[in-house]
This record gives sequence, structure tokens and C-alpha cells, in this order.
Amino acid sequence: MYKVSEIAPDVYRISVFVKEYNLQFNHFLIRDEEPLLYHAGMRLMFPEVLAAVRELLDPASIRWIGFSHFEMDECGALNEWLQIAPQAQAVCSDICGIINMADYAIRPARLLPAPERLQTGKYAYRLIATPHVPHGWDASVLFEETNKTLLCSDLFHQNGNCAAITDHDILGAHRQSMLEYEKGPLLEYTPYSPNTAKLLQTLAELQPKTLAVMHGSSFMGNCAQALLDLDGVMKELWGQPGYSTLKAGPQLVA
Ligand SMILES: [Fe+2]
Ligand SMILES: [Fe+2]
Repeated sequence: MYKVSEIAPDVYRISVFVKEYNLQFNHFLIRDEEPLLYHAGMRLMFPEVLAAVRELLDPASIRWIGFSHFEMDECGALNEWLQIAPQAQAVCSDICGIINMADYAIRPARLLPAPERLQTGKYAYRLIATPHVPHGWDASVLFEETNKTLLCSDLFHQNGNCAAITDHDILGAHRQSMLEYEKGPLLEYTPYSPNTAKLLQTLAELQPKTLAVMHGSSFMGNCAQALLDLDGVMKELWGQPGYSTLKAGPQLVA
């Protein structure tokens, strides 16, 4: 069953908790003249998310579908949405357009290179390409400039059935969740590269008021500081010299 919460003005968080994964999948619908859905979600989840969208607006009026990177929870149901909303287009990074959308989407995507803005009525968005953060060559985040909401995908991922939004620390829960993943098949969530700190600093400079998080609680408070502190957590988890080689070593030898 889904849960709908307004986490910022006109930003509706549609959350589906999957018990087997102990994980929430959050989709964000931003109501405006041209509605935007961030995260198309999985195909299997489509009927549920569609029912939630229907509570808020006519799904056929969705104009834009944004997501960070090519993954089933980000954009698995993209084409289902494009079929139900005849004017809708994916909005994504240049890289995503070239390597994924050009063949995957049933309609051409709108690429949003810097410094272009996407104006949807009252709200304006800019896309920040963040290759390999949180993961994927095509990765990006979307920033709504009027209310300063950063749609930040898998950054700050927290396991469990969390509150819709909090002003308490989410980094501790994020770190703990990633430590749990390190023990299983979902290890190495984010590659830590020489660009990671710089990218997070760029996001902090946007001075977001709200972090709209795909898995777990969204955050309101000192978002810039949270993004800067996230670098420390990522570095500790994945930035140690030899980290990846050590993990992959035995498998390569076998
Ligand atoms: Fe992801
Ligand atoms: Fe995700």
C-alpha cells in the first residue's frame, strides 16, 4: 500500500514500502501547470503508483518524468507513463539521453544540459550531471529552484519504513544501511572517485531546503552541511585505498 505525503509545497512523496527488501521506494510528484514525476518506479509497482497519482491529479496530464540513472526503480515504468500521458517526456542528462533513452524510451527525451532550465509553470528546474554519483555513468540530480528542493535519488539511502520527512540526522541511518549492504550482494553502492567530494560540494552550493530522498526519509534542515558530511561517510565506506580491489580480489582469482 502506498502512502502520500506533501514534503514541500506541491511536492508529493508517494512511498511504497517493500517488506521483503525492508526498503521504501519513493516517487515524487510535483504539481504545477506541467506536472513532473521524479522516479517512474518499477513496472511491477506501476499500478500502485498510478493509483496514488490519481489521488493528486489526472495522470494523463503528467508532462515530465525525471530520474537519476538507468535502473528499474528509477525508470523501469517510464514507457508505461509515456503511454498513459501522451504529452509526457523523460527529462534526463545528456549522457542518459545518448546511452539509454535514445533506444529505450518510446518518445524522445528532453535533455537538460547546464545552464538550461526547465520551466513547468511556477517552478523551474536545473539538472546537475553527477556521473557515477550515486552510481551510473548517466547519473544526475534535479534541483527545483523556487522551493529549493533537491531530488537526489539514492543519495542518503536509508533502509526501513522511515518517516516521510525529518529534520533529524539521516546520515547515521544511511551509513548503517550501507554497512548492512556491504555484507550482502548489494555492496559497493557508490564508487568513490576523485570527483565525488567536488560533486557533493557543487550540490551543497545550491543551498537546498529539502532533500527528496528515494529510499528512506527526506530531509529538511541544513541540507548543505548534510551533503558535505555525506562525503565523509562515502569516503569512509568506499574511499579507502584498495577497497574495491580487496572486495573483487577473491572472485577474480576464482
Ligand atoms: Fe540507483
Ligand atoms: Fe534507488
